[in-house]
Amino acid sequence: MDNTLDLAAIQTALEKSSAKVEALINSYVDKKEQLISLLQDIQAEFDYLPQETLVKISRTLDIPLSQVFSVATFFQSFSLKPRGRHTITVCLGTACHVKGGQRLVDKISRDYKIGPGETTQDERFTLETANCLGCCALGPVVVVDGKYEGHMTPDKLDKILKKYE
Ligand code: FES
Repeated sequence: MDNTLDLAAIQTALEKSSAKVEALINSYVDKKEQLISLLQDIQAEFDYLPQETLVKISRTLDIPLSQVFSVATFFQSFSLKPRGRHTITVCLGTACHVKGGQRLVDKISRDYKIGPGETTQDERFTLETANCLGCCALGPVVVVDGKYEGHMTPDKLDKILKKYE
């Protein structure tokens, strides 16, 4: 297998992506009130919100940078850091907490060296916590890439996460 980097191809891809973002931001010049929608579009492009893009939004749409950041950090669905290929969400709502949710977070933190909101160095997993996922009877609940897993235990979680390695 050829492992050499095709720098020209990477450069072209970056330029295309940058031009796309520029066009996206410009398309919202007359719709500043739809900032959330613009941020969703940007996140769909990169899978997170690069900080330089937030600065570009602020300058182009003439919205204070503090306002752009406060919207970007208010909603849990937005991420300011690159995310892993798989997202693990551990519920720490009251029902899941009393049934051992925190033990699951501790196990992931120990095994993968990441805390809530962080991504493993190999970009495999991003760990998130939630306050209640609306299925308390199944607690403790863990969601991996949108798949709900109930009555979770550290051993069960170990087996599930191994499948994503
Ligand atoms: S507290 Fe975890 S699903 Fe409700």
